[in-house]
Amino acid sequence: MKKFQFPFKQTQKIKLSDAIQNLISRAEEATEKAYAPYSHFRVGASVLLEDGTILTGANHENAAYPAGVCAERAALSNLDMNETSKKVKAIAVTYRSHEGHGKPISPCGICRQTILEVQQWQSSPIAIYMCSPNGQVVMLDDAGFLLPFSFGSEYLDLSSENE
Ligand code: THU
Repeated sequence: MKKFQFPFKQTQKIKLSDAIQNLISRAEEATEKAYAPYSHFRVGASVLLEDGTILTGANHENAAYPAGVCAERAALSNLDMNETSKKVKAIAVTYRSHEGHGKPISPCGICRQTILEVQQWQSSPIAIYMCSPNGQVVMLDDAGFLLPFSFGSEYLDLSSENE
């Protein structure tokens, strides 16, 4: 039997570098911008670029539920993806809770697919910081760990072979 195994770290915000603490704080601030009248679950995400720029986003829901956008994809939609663009080094995601929850949030499947596309496009790993409102963090060095057996552009390249 083959197995997938991957490393992850369980830590606290205050134990991380200043740069990553700042990245997480920006995701926390972004929760203020959430439009979540249906779920009342306010999510914020922040994207750290190699030059230190931080892009942020929050979830944006819709009465037609599937039209809603998660915070991670809202943040990534600000990313400039051309040849001279800055690479994404890390993404942090968190949520608001009055009860001071300790369960780090985990990106949904669509966001995992979206993050992985960016990682594959830039050919360098994106670290993921999954955070809770009370400062717990689960951290991965590589977004690929979030999506084993992923679908990617390599399959679409094959389609020309079938013509
Ligand atoms: N949501 C996010 O924005 N990011 C996640 O990682 C998980 C879920 C949003 C989508 C929806 O607006 C709300 O949280 C409840 O699912």
